[in-house]
Amino acid sequence: MEEKKFSLVGVIGSGVMGHGIAQTAAKFGYDVIMHDIAQEFLDNGLRMIKEGRYGLERAVKSGKMEESDASSTLGRIKTSTNLDDLKYCDIVIEAITEDEKLKGDLFQKLDRVLKPDGIIASNTSGIMISKLASYTKRGDRFIGMHWFNPPQLMKLIEIVRGPETSEYVLESVTKMSIKMEKVPVTVNDGPGFFTTRYIDSWLMEAFRMFENGVAGIQEIDKMSKLAFGFPMGPFELSDLVGLDTMLHISEYMFEETKRPEYAAPSILKKLVYSGYLGNKKGSKGGWYDYYKIVKQ
Ligand SMILES: NC(=O)c1ccc[n+]([C@@H]2O[C@H](COP(=O)([O-])OP(=O)(O)OC[C@H]3O[C@@H](n4cnc5c(N)ncnc54)[C@H](O)[C@@H]3O)[C@@H](O)[C@H]2O)c1
Repeated sequence: MEEKKFSLVGVIGSGVMGHGIAQTAAKFGYDVIMHDIAQEFLDNGLRMIKEGRYGLERAVKSGKMEESDASSTLGRIKTSTNLDDLKYCDIVIEAITEDEKLKGDLFQKLDRVLKPDGIIASNTSGIMISKLASYTKRGDRFIGMHWFNPPQLMKLIEIVRGPETSEYVLESVTKMSIKMEKVPVTVNDGPGFFTTRYIDSWLMEAFRMFENGVAGIQEIDKMSKLAFGFPMGPFELSDLVGLDTMLHISEYMFEETKRPEYAAPSILKKLVYSGYLGNKKGSKGGWYDYYKIVKQ
């Protein structure tokens, strides 16, 4: 069977990932409806699409994009706070807060609203796809589509095949990823899939070493880059991801696996509880800001 050709794409969540996914899909010709719970979040997402570090204005200024392509990209993105407006979407990519209960409630509603042959793709960092699909009656049309930050730039899309995901849906989402000039790699379901299971234990261990006084934030980031050739150290990377998202992920990974390497150290909790969420809207700052003003 030939793959399903998408034209209308829904993106739920307009935060760190959602706005970048919406921008990327629109850039490659898809009509996009971006949905969030409040207009102010959508306005912030649109502002990031226009003026953000990976946004359209900078792409034009640096000669990576024609002005006319930037304005047609923007013209393809509509916003709505009403979930019903997503009913005719061929695929809906969910990028809301990494919380199973929140995602589950949303999927139950979306399953009722979305047309029967519409596909639901979750950008969860690691919640099992079989679990998320269980909130719907369309396990065969449910898939993991795990993008990386920033979505406008990062090439990999980790495609997670749930036990019920149909070959047709896998093929369609793979082709869509290739059309957006991404590199899709398919994995099977499991907590954290491949990428999050691999990176999360490494990040938590770096936080623990800092907590135990082995080395400072700057030193650990510097050594990670110079010793191992990583483009970013663990503190820089987690500031980019969002520390609240990082905490949600490690709590989930620990809960599912009961393995100590995934347990979040209290130092990460301390930052999140006091409003240091990394480089995102509404945050007081990240690791580097926190330790400028607070002694451990
Ligand atoms: N940040 C990263 O680097 C990264 C990378 C890959 C995957 N992810 C995953 O992407 C998802 C989103 O992460 P993020 O970093 O963009 O989070 P974020 O906190 O920046 O944005 C989440 C957005 O979802 C909205 N939202 C919450 N509940 C909603 C609901 N019921 N309906 C509609 N909108 C709702 C919020 O208002 C917010 O705008 C998470 O599952 C996360 O694990 C994040």
